[in-house]
Amino acid sequence: DSAESTATCTGDRRRVLFFPLPYQGHINPMFQLAGLLHSHGFAVTVFHTHFNAPDASLHPDYDFVPVPDGGALPAADSPDDTVQATVEHIFALNRACEAPFQERLAAVLEDDPAGGVAVACLVADAHLLTLLDVARGLGVPTLALRTGSAACFRCFTAFPMLCDKGYLPLPAQDTSQLDTPVIELPPYRVGDLPAASIPAAAHGRTREVLRRAVTAVAASSGLILNTFDALEHAELAALRRDIAVPVFDVGPLHLLSPAPAATAASASSLLRPDRGCLDWLDAQAPASVLYVSFGSIASVSAADLVEAAWGIAGSGRPFLWALRPGLVRGGAPPLPSQPPPLPKGFDAATRGRGAVVAWAPQEEVLAHDAVGALWTHCGWNSTLEAACAGVPMLCRPCFGDQRGNARYVDHVWRVGVELDGGEIERGNVAAAIEMVMGAGEPGAGLRRRALELKRRAAESIDDGGSSALNVNMLVNLIQSL
Ligand code: UDX
Repeated sequence: DSAESTATCTGDRRRVLFFPLPYQGHINPMFQLAGLLHSHGFAVTVFHTHFNAPDASLHPDYDFVPVPDGGALPAADSPDDTVQATVEHIFALNRACEAPFQERLAAVLEDDPAGGVAVACLVADAHLLTLLDVARGLGVPTLALRTGSAACFRCFTAFPMLCDKGYLPLPAQDTSQLDTPVIELPPYRVGDLPAASIPAAAHGRTREVLRRAVTAVAASSGLILNTFDALEHAELAALRRDIAVPVFDVGPLHLLSPAPAATAASASSLLRPDRGCLDWLDAQAPASVLYVSFGSIASVSAADLVEAAWGIAGSGRPFLWALRPGLVRGGAPPLPSQPPPLPKGFDAATRGRGAVVAWAPQEEVLAHDAVGALWTHCGWNSTLEAACAGVPMLCRPCFGDQRGNARYVDHVWRVGVELDGGEIERGNVAAAIEMVMGAGEPGAGLRRRALELKRRAAESIDDGGSSALNVNMLVNLIQSL
C-alpha cells in the first residue's frame, strides 16, 4: 500500500519491536497488531519468552529474539488460583526477563545499520512494565497494548477508588454484595469487577499488578486498545479524560490484520487448530450450530463438564465443541494432547449431531454461516470475535475481565444472555441454549442486534471509519517517534 511504498522508496523504513505477554489471549492481538503495522511498511521484531514461544517459521518476514524467562510457570488448580497464579507469573516474568531483555535489546539497537531500518519504538503488553522501563532506559520510545476492553482498563485506573469506597476487597464467603451496582462505573456490579473473585488475602498482589499496568500505560507514548468506538464510545471517551496519553482504539484487530484469516488465526496459535471441523460445518444448515469454546486458560470442574455436556445434548441442536486438553481441573486427560473425556453415553446420545476438537480455528468458525451461537467464557478476544461476526452469545464467565465482558454482552450490547452463576446444571444449559438459538424472543432480538454490531464493526475499519482513522494516527505517531 502507499505507506509501504513510501517507506521503501525513501529508504527510511522503521522497525517496531513487539513483546507480548505469553498467554494466548495476549499473543493473538499482539501478532494481529504486528501484522497490521507490517502492512504499513514497518519492519517487525518480536521479543518473546521461552514459555509459550511463538513459531517463528510461520512468520518468515519477522525477526524473533528469544528472551530467557527463568523457567517460571504459572501453577493453578482452581479458577481463583488461575488469577493468582497468573498474577505471580506476571511478576516472575518481569523480574526474570529484565536483565536478558536489556542485553538483547541493546544488541538489536547496535545492529541497526546507519541509514537502515532504525528502531521506532517498542510495543509491549501493559503487564510488562519492567520491560517497558528497560526500553525507555535505552532510549527506545514505548507504546502499551492492553488486550482487554476499554471498560476493563477503566476499572484498572479506578481500582484505588474502588478500594477506598469499600467496593473491594469483598469479605470472604460474602456473596451479598455481588449485585450491588458500582455507581461510578455503570453498568458494572461489584461481582463484575476484574478482581471481585480474588480472596482478600491475595488482594494486595492483584492491586499491585493492576497499578503496574496503569503505570506502564502512563509512562508510555500511547495506549493501544483492541476495541472500536461504536462498541465502547462512552468508555473510550471517559478513558481519554482519565489518562494523559493518547488512546488508539484500533480494533477489531483480527479483522484489520491483513493476513488471510487462516494464516492469522493459526500463525499465533499455541495449539494446532483442527481444520477438519470446517468441513463438518460446511455440511450443516445455516445458523444451526452452537459453537462451544472456553478460550485458552479458563477451566471447569469435572462435574461442570458433565452438566455442560448433558445440557448441550439436551438442547437437541448441532454443536461444535472446542474441548482443549487441560480444560478440566484435576482430571488429567489420557494423553496430554487429548481433549478431556466426555461422559459415558454422550457420543451415542448426540451421534451425527456434534463435532469435538481439541482446538478450533476460531475466527473461521465464527465467520462460518453454519454457526448460530457461541457458548463462551467471555475472554475479550472471543467476545470481540463473536460480536464482529454477528454471532449471539451464551455467556458463562469465569474470572478476571470475563464477568465484566459478559455484563456488556448481556446488558449493554444485548447480543447474548448470561448463564446463571453457581454450578452448571444441565436443565439450565439446555434452556439457555434455546433462549439464544430459538426462533422466538429473546433469540431473534439477540440475532438482530448481533448483525447490527457486525455491520458497525465492519464500518469502523472501512476507509474513514473510527478504527481506520486511529490506525492512521498510530502509524503517524510511530513514524514521528
Ligand atoms: C485471557 C483471558 O481469559 C481473557 O479474559 C483476557 O481478555 C485475555 O486473556 P483467554 O481466556 O484465552 O484469554 O480468552 P480469549 O481472550 O477469548 O482468547 C482466546 C483466543 O484463542 C481467541 O483469539 C480465540 O479465537 C482463540 N481460540 C480459542 C482458538 O483459536 N481456538 C480455540 O479452540 C479456542
